[in-house]
Amino acid sequence: MAENKSIHGVWQNRWTFILAATGSAVGLGNIWKFPYMAGENGGGAFVLIYLVFVAAIGIPVMLAEVMLGRRGRQSPINTMKTLAKSSDASKFWGGIGWLGAIAGVLILSFYSVIAGWAMAYAGKIIGGGLLDQTDIPSQFGAFVSDPVETVLWHSLFMVMVLTVVAGGIHKGLEKSVQFLMPALFVMLILLLGYATTTGSFGEAVSFLFKFNPEALTADAVLSALGHAFFTLSLGMGAIMAYGAYMPKEHSLGKTVVIIGVLDTLVAVVAGLVIFSIVFANGLDTAAGPSLMFKTLPVAFSQMPGGIVLGGMFFILVTFAAWTSAISLAEPAVAWMVETAGFSRIKAALVVGIPVWLLGIACALSQNIWSDVTILGSDLLDFLDKLTTNIMLPLGGLLIAIFAGWIMRRSHVVKEVAMKNFALFNIWIVMIRIVAPIGIAFVMYNSIEAWLVFINK
Ligand code: PFF
Repeated sequence: MAENKSIHGVWQNRWTFILAATGSAVGLGNIWKFPYMAGENGGGAFVLIYLVFVAAIGIPVMLAEVMLGRRGRQSPINTMKTLAKSSDASKFWGGIGWLGAIAGVLILSFYSVIAGWAMAYAGKIIGGGLLDQTDIPSQFGAFVSDPVETVLWHSLFMVMVLTVVAGGIHKGLEKSVQFLMPALFVMLILLLGYATTTGSFGEAVSFLFKFNPEALTADAVLSALGHAFFTLSLGMGAIMAYGAYMPKEHSLGKTVVIIGVLDTLVAVVAGLVIFSIVFANGLDTAAGPSLMFKTLPVAFSQMPGGIVLGGMFFILVTFAAWTSAISLAEPAVAWMVETAGFSRIKAALVVGIPVWLLGIACALSQNIWSDVTILGSDLLDFLDKLTTNIMLPLGGLLIAIFAGWIMRRSHVVKEVAMKNFALFNIWIVMIRIVAPIGIAFVMYNSIEAWLVFINK
């Protein structure tokens, strides 16, 4: 442990780590999920609570994950095993890595299906004349109910993900994020520029930021907290795996704050873009998961240059999903390389093929297998609930407790390497008290919701 390098290599510099971790964090969660959740939960109140959770729980837990990864220098499974041993803690803590690796591949299976939808939409807008249709929203239903097309797009996305993962961190991850992340930011800024010309930008701003406490239901609070985990890629070792490739000498505090801020900015900008378009065209704010697919193309069809803008938007979503999906596979793949001695290509295939098959089942759960339900949900929805409501918060809770209470304090101090003691102490309070209590609160409510869901 604590060698200077991971066997998987090291990021070229701190910025590459920041790009990769931001690539993991920024994804469907920001562009597809955040706007529709804000829309469904009444806007401003949800957004504000979500921002508080990101700052008070998300960022401290992220620091803990990066710290654990960099100290352990291996895949999350082996990192947690080694760190538990070196703090004379029970083997139980090693289980955090397993929980995370399993959550990662489960999320990847349905994530890839939705990313496939986004990719299909980019193709349909640019080449397929989608925007010329008379009834654009119903095109989404027709597309999703086509088993062959959705399975093919999911398969293509899995090939893209596994190709990068198989390449390893220098050839694969590092090269792709260096190109993809800046491209993503440029595209978002262009779209933001467009949003300001719609005449409804002000309305979008007030929808997202006007604090409307009457919309603040317990459910909205709960979704905001759960979403803070999902959007920052926390609780499953993705950020821990990337932390293992981080050069030793850098202080972690500033790094994680940059990642948290970038992730939040992308979500807020995506929200502003989407709601400017929604308001300018008199569309429904509470359209739910179909918001992006059903309403945006309608808006794009009505605007000059819509084919280019619409195509760009869905390509952007695909890029964002791609760099997140890579990190979902990394904990399991890195573990196989370390433990089974597989090449990265072999490990990517051994992890990827079952995920691809499960993803096919998720895609089919939206059409020919829609009658098959698990606890009342179709497979895609079930996997989303299982991971987001149970596995990620549980992982985050255990990580906070391990970093705050179990790991030797001298190891923590050395690894976090924060020069500012006041800030370090604030983090300690967050990770020992605020985060565990906050997360336990989410979990309690999630389990309650889960029980209601089971008993239905
Ligand atoms: N953070 C990603 C998003 O917002 O789309 C999703 C995700 C990636 C969740 C990696 C968890 C993870 F480990």
